[in-house]
Amino acid sequence: MNRSLKNVKTLIGLFFTVSFVLFGYFGKNEMMNETDSRNATMVSDTQKEVMSTKKIAITFDDGPHPVYTPMLLDGLKERGIHATFFLLGESAQNYPDLVKRIQEEGHLIGNHTFHHTDLKNADTVLLHQEVVKTNEVIEKITGQTPQYIRPPFGSHKDSLEEQTGMLVVLWNIDPLDWCSEDAAGIVRQIEKNAKDNGIILMHDSYKTSVMAALTAIDDLQKEGYEFVTVDEILFE
Ligand code: NI
Repeated sequence: MNRSLKNVKTLIGLFFTVSFVLFGYFGKNEMMNETDSRNATMVSDTQKEVMSTKKIAITFDDGPHPVYTPMLLDGLKERGIHATFFLLGESAQNYPDLVKRIQEEGHLIGNHTFHHTDLKNADTVLLHQEVVKTNEVIEKITGQTPQYIRPPFGSHKDSLEEQTGMLVVLWNIDPLDWCSEDAAGIVRQIEKNAKDNGIILMHDSYKTSVMAALTAIDDLQKEGYEFVTVDEILFE
């Protein structure tokens, strides 16, 4: 009797020992898996952060310009960058080859009115002269009707989109390039204010602006920015 009780005790002891060892082994294993997967998640988040680029769009108003637009297009091509150009109908009409080149090189073309007109109080007649006519000029050259409009001075009625059937595109980074001849200063302004989903306002009617734009593009690309056309920011 004593002996069999001892056996039972031994068996019970053995059971707990085995359970304890097994629990320890699998439990620890489970914990390790959890830790491993947590580490794996952390790694993939870090990788994502490194790999996911910040998007930024550079836009050029008031062109095309016979001297500075080709200079800019050469620089953009060299860098494999696509920009957005808000063209004046009058200039598009004067330099159709440049409009064609802008399109052929993969840039996005928008409307900036025919004569750089303030659309704040525009009636139907003025909208036709300034917006519709510009679209017609661009469409005749490129075969495509612009879908985006940048009203000069950013000035417009709330109803502009409804009246024109176009999307208004403003900006959130303005280095005031048109009133500065200091390319380095313009670059500093762009880089200081650069952000994800930024839309930079520039003008390809000045040499300083073109030089500054290309330098800023080089710097921001090194900082992980991907340059896209405005449609990719608006319909993200
Ligand atoms: Ni303008």
